[in-house]
Amino acid sequence: MGIVDTAKRSVPPWVKGLVPASLRRHQMIEDHARSLPSYPFFQGLMSRYRVENLVGVDSETFKRRIDEFLALDDYRMEGFANPERQRDLSIRFYWGHDHDFGGFALQGRMRSRHLALLTIFRDRFGAIPQSLEGLRVLDIGAWTGGVSLVLAAMGAQVTAVEEVKKYVEALTYLKQAFAIDNLDPRHLSLYECTLSEFQDAFDLVIYAGVLYHVTDPTVSLRITFNCLRDGGRCLVETAAVNSEKPILAYHGPGLARGDRSARNRSGWNWYFPSLAALARMMEDVGFAQVQVSKVIAGRAFAVGRRDSHVDIMRGGLSVPGLR
Ligand SMILES: C[S@@+](CC[C@H](N)C(=O)[O-])C[C@H]1O[C@@H](n2cnc3c(N)ncnc32)[C@H](O)[C@@H]1O
Repeated sequence: MGIVDTAKRSVPPWVKGLVPASLRRHQMIEDHARSLPSYPFFQGLMSRYRVENLVGVDSETFKRRIDEFLALDDYRMEGFANPERQRDLSIRFYWGHDHDFGGFALQGRMRSRHLALLTIFRDRFGAIPQSLEGLRVLDIGAWTGGVSLVLAAMGAQVTAVEEVKKYVEALTYLKQAFAIDNLDPRHLSLYECTLSEFQDAFDLVIYAGVLYHVTDPTVSLRITFNCLRDGGRCLVETAAVNSEKPILAYHGPGLARGDRSARNRSGWNWYFPSLAALARMMEDVGFAQVQVSKVIAGRAFAVGRRDSHVDIMRGGLSVPGLR
């Protein structure tokens, strides 16, 4: 299958064949994913969200509303007292993933990563079935919804949680404009997915591009475990540190890169796990059959299955009542 079991640590052929490290990391993964069979399938699903499929709104009005989102630069709506110590991407609106709406196209900050992620989870891990009809999927950290839109087009009932209000409003607008009944955007932090409605509820949790942004990665993984039904799987993608040791490398928001005055800084990370740390954390929160990739261009993929709900070691838990 080409996936590395943490214990074995052999390098799968598809990793050896990857393009040189000088290319930007997302581009490397995207280039690799484009060569896999499922990429065109996922890409094709995005065509459902083109202006000819708008419902109850014309394309000019739709574009004007999208332009209003793109012009947003607002810290108050996020509940911040001032912007000083806050993440630029929470204040200024940035589109997340590439989207060709037909009449116009938006380039996302993360380009076509949504398609690449899903392709790798499907073709390398076998973790995404052809149809998601009747399945419930939780997309954590949805941004403007690239991953959620594809999963909804596959027939899943998608709950998309996102901590930044302006992105939830944009995704809610897409839901309305394209009449996506099976998409439920929610303005919630991952840490609020302890609500009863999230417990034992999902067949798949997509936890991509978020683990290194959170202050307590172990608790975050436990929350994903609790959200799954028995037999459900959590698909994790994260920035990662390339080390054999089971470490979490501390970054902290001070390492954000970019132009402060343009509010375009990226980074805003807390901890980067090594593969060994990621695999152990997933096992320690309860996951079975944990599979991890190698670290590729500073990113790692992992899949864990919830066989049954087991307890977690409670010493030192930052949320004492956590299920
Ligand atoms: C790097 S983007 C990843 C977007 C998408 N999941 C992907 O993989 O392409 C991280 C997103 O997660 C959101 N996020 C970060 N921490 C979060 C949290 N604790 N709860 C919910 N969303 C969070 C950010 O606001 C941002 O939209």
